[in-house]
Amino acid sequence: MSKKLINLYDLEPGMKVAETILNDYGSIIISEGTILDDHLIKKIQKHNLYKINIIEDVKLSSNEINQSFQNSYNEDIEYTKEILHSLSENKGIDDKKVKKVVESVIKMSNEKRDIVRCIKQIKNVDEYTYTHCINVSLLSMLIGKWLKYSSEKIQTLVQAALLHDIGKIKVPLEILNKPGKLTNYEYEEIKKHAVYGYRMIEKESGISKDVCLAVLMHHEREDGSGYPTGAKGDKIHEFAKIISVADIFDAMTSNRVYRERESPFEVFEMMEEKTLGELDVKAVSAFLNNIASYYIGDYVKLNSGDTGEIIYINQRHVSKPIVKVSDKYIDLTVNKDLKIVEII
Ligand SMILES: [Fe+2]
Repeated sequence: MSKKLINLYDLEPGMKVAETILNDYGSIIISEGTILDDHLIKKIQKHNLYKINIIEDVKLSSNEINQSFQNSYNEDIEYTKEILHSLSENKGIDDKKVKKVVESVIKMSNEKRDIVRCIKQIKNVDEYTYTHCINVSLLSMLIGKWLKYSSEKIQTLVQAALLHDIGKIKVPLEILNKPGKLTNYEYEEIKKHAVYGYRMIEKESGISKDVCLAVLMHHEREDGSGYPTGAKGDKIHEFAKIISVADIFDAMTSNRVYRERESPFEVFEMMEEKTLGELDVKAVSAFLNNIASYYIGDYVKLNSGDTGEIIYINQRHVSKPIVKVSDKYIDLTVNKDLKIVEII
């Protein structure tokens, strides 16, 4: 495998990066082995570099880049749609399709950057329910990997994540998609989806007890403030703790009928606060410490209206990175009034 130094303006999509590229702060912008696409090339060109090493004789055609990831992602959403439809028609759970989606989600684990970017991008889709199931599966899988789970355990975790919200098919659509504030009655109806989901799968032979419990408990909180039973701490299934983190992140960063999406950094901030009581510290730390690095080099808008580049993320305050605005370095841990409101 030979390397070749190449001028930044001669980079083309499909080329493979031979050495990890760092910014001035020592944060990784692009890891070794990454296949470049237009977005990544623009990101590199904004830095003070002249040339980078690429691997000679590797160049994927533009259709090959991300294509396979995007295809499996879209296919999984279609399968999820079919799984939920057959459940809503009382035809039971389609084991084969569930297995297929779980396998496909796990196969995508090598494309971590694609997963994070895909989840960053697909925020305007109408088909929220199906996309949400896949996003939560992908994010739960990543957290499982970051927690060094065995492959068997990850498989069960992904199955639980895929099915976590199936109980929602029994909640009336006008409540589920209601714009504006819910009445107490409506909120109680929505809360029932955890038990509905559990009942729908508890008698299925191909589904383990772990999956059933994770579905039942994915809205429980460490301090007992969750539902349906108000279980606390170690009484909550470990898969449910992971799915909670993935679920909150995807739900809050998506556009919904009743509210605008939040920037990932606002959600990170909320999560850092929630680990003090509601969310599991291990699951949140694994998620935040690992996912944050994918945002280094991204351009963001601050609540002051300024735009700048994320150049450093402090592991202890993932929600408050250092942002370079023109030639000033703004440390959000110090400038407490400033926030990232949008990734641009
Ligand atoms: Fe849920």
